[in-house]
Amino acid sequence: MYPSQTIRILRSTQLPRTACLMLALVGSSCSRERPEPLRSESRAEIAAVEQPPAEVSPQLLVHRGEQLVRLGGCGDCHTPMAFDPKLGMPVPQRHLALSGHPEGAPAPSGQPQAGDQAVIGASFTSFKAPFGVVYASNLTPDPETGLGSWTREEFIATMRSGHRKGTGRVLLPPMPWQNLSNQPEADLNAMFAYLQSLAPIKNRVPQPEVPEPAIAAIAKGYELARAATQEGQ
Ligand code: HEC
Repeated sequence: MYPSQTIRILRSTQLPRTACLMLALVGSSCSRERPEPLRSESRAEIAAVEQPPAEVSPQLLVHRGEQLVRLGGCGDCHTPMAFDPKLGMPVPQRHLALSGHPEGAPAPSGQPQAGDQAVIGASFTSFKAPFGVVYASNLTPDPETGLGSWTREEFIATMRSGHRKGTGRVLLPPMPWQNLSNQPEADLNAMFAYLQSLAPIKNRVPQPEVPEPAIAAIAKGYELARAATQEGQ
């Protein structure tokens, strides 16, 4: 390579890519290089990664579901926490895992101040937002107070649509259903299998204290956000 050529290459905006190529040639990698955007042909390859083999044992399904529920941070809101004075921080109450806002536990006592998104209650399962108070639901399979009577299809429809069982009331913030709405069916299936494998805990979570017009406004907001995302694709 002639010196003038080298200089031209080094000055070009392609420098990081060229440097990476050179590193690759000597067997090193270049972690700063951003991955290429996905080609449309990659969809089939992605589907192959997302799609587990047709026959998965129930134990494997539950194991995978547990991984996803942990990764999804579901317990961060659905498992009550208690403040541990020795540790100086809130810790999850393992024996109440994923059972939602404990019946009779207090709602947040303070009011959100100007600019606050919400005040979080003592058990980290209740949220007082400017539009009202929302309580994290019981995700254990208790038939009366949890998801025991839900079908797999209803769970998946909830996550895809942001409405309970696909057609019911809209799920209120801070439930981050949007994070799950495009998740492969196999993942949602595994998460539901794990939740249904838990020991049922009878715990009747209070209904949200949010006025109807505020619920309607939130439903509208979700629709607008969804339309904006689809436009941006
Ligand atoms: C930031 C807090 C938060 C996180 C994280 C969270 N949730 Fe929720 N979730 C809530 C709240 C609050 C509600 C109640 C919303 C309402 O009443 O509209 C809820 C409601 C639900 C419901 C509806 C249950 C019913 O009976 O209506 C399901 C199902 C659910 N969450 C599943 C999950 C799963 C699965 C995850 C993890 C991927 C998760 N949530 C993560 C806060 C959270």
